[in-house]
Amino acid sequence: MTDAPPQDAAAIRDAALDALERAGSADALEAWRVEYLGRSGRMTQVLRGVAQLPPDERRAAGAAANEAKTVLEQRLADRRAEIEAALAEGLGADAIDVTLPGRPAPNGRYHPSTIVMREIEAIFRGMGFQVAEGPEVEWDRYNFEMLNIPKDHPARDMFDTFWLDANRDPDGGFTTLLRTHTSPMQARIMEAHQPPIRVIVPGKCYRYEATDATHESQFHQIEGLAVDKGITFANLKHTLFQFARQMFGPETRIRFRCDYFPFVEPGVDMAIEWRGDWLEILGAGMVHPNVLRAAGYDPDVYTGFAFGMGPERIAMLKYGINDVRHFLANDVRFLRQFR
Ligand code: DAH
Repeated sequence: MTDAPPQDAAAIRDAALDALERAGSADALEAWRVEYLGRSGRMTQVLRGVAQLPPDERRAAGAAANEAKTVLEQRLADRRAEIEAALAEGLGADAIDVTLPGRPAPNGRYHPSTIVMREIEAIFRGMGFQVAEGPEVEWDRYNFEMLNIPKDHPARDMFDTFWLDANRDPDGGFTTLLRTHTSPMQARIMEAHQPPIRVIVPGKCYRYEATDATHESQFHQIEGLAVDKGITFANLKHTLFQFARQMFGPETRIRFRCDYFPFVEPGVDMAIEWRGDWLEILGAGMVHPNVLRAAGYDPDVYTGFAFGMGPERIAMLKYGINDVRHFLANDVRFLRQFR
């Protein structure tokens, strides 16, 4: 016989079910289980108390207590499943799945003009040339005057020029422009340095002309200049042959023809044989005595050679590009093809 009367199974069951609805976590469920169904839990005690009842009450009380316990066990299992499901849903919504493979960041690439310019630079570096750069906004003096192209010289027609409004002279004439070639750097370098000089100058140039498949108003050039005592045309030829063979292959056939540029004498154009055709890839020559003089050099002491080429033209050859306008169109389908 117990002192306290056995508690009513139904009352405990209802209290337990109430509490179970409020238990919202795995920890809360476990605490609830201990409180009602644990070894000394409230429902467990009710069941134990059944043995103490008078025999005629035992059967009904035992059945009621067992049934209540079963209901609690069943409801506990349901609550567990509900809480786990809610947890899984939350994870799916905002958790990071660390087992997924990483996504590679897209790599940038070099522009085909850059690729070719770097290649050209590397070849001339290997022959002892330094690399210099100069301004794209240039004085008439460097772009023309010091290169033996005075005002009203017909050779100015070779260069369709973007003139700038800044720094007009007293008569209203233009004095500044977007450089039409990289050759002004010849004058700048000679003015600022003493021989020996071996330098190449990559950079942007501009011409005021209609655009078509072979003409752009913005393009690159690479200028070359070597000045020293005793430099000859043979040095020019050797240097440019070496360049062409490294750039286009050791068997490349090369052609020199006379050409005219005001800042060289003699002047040549150089072509390479490419898939059965002769293609002109650069202009060159011996630095004109007037150019040496304008820079303050004595042409009886120093001689030099110079050359200028267009990397876009060379890239078009090498990669089979048929329209120079692709270079500045920024179409990734074009740009993605080069690395
Ligand atoms: N500056 C010339 C042009 O834009 C190219 C050139 C020709 C550069 C002969 C040179 C040279 O240095 O010697 O058409």
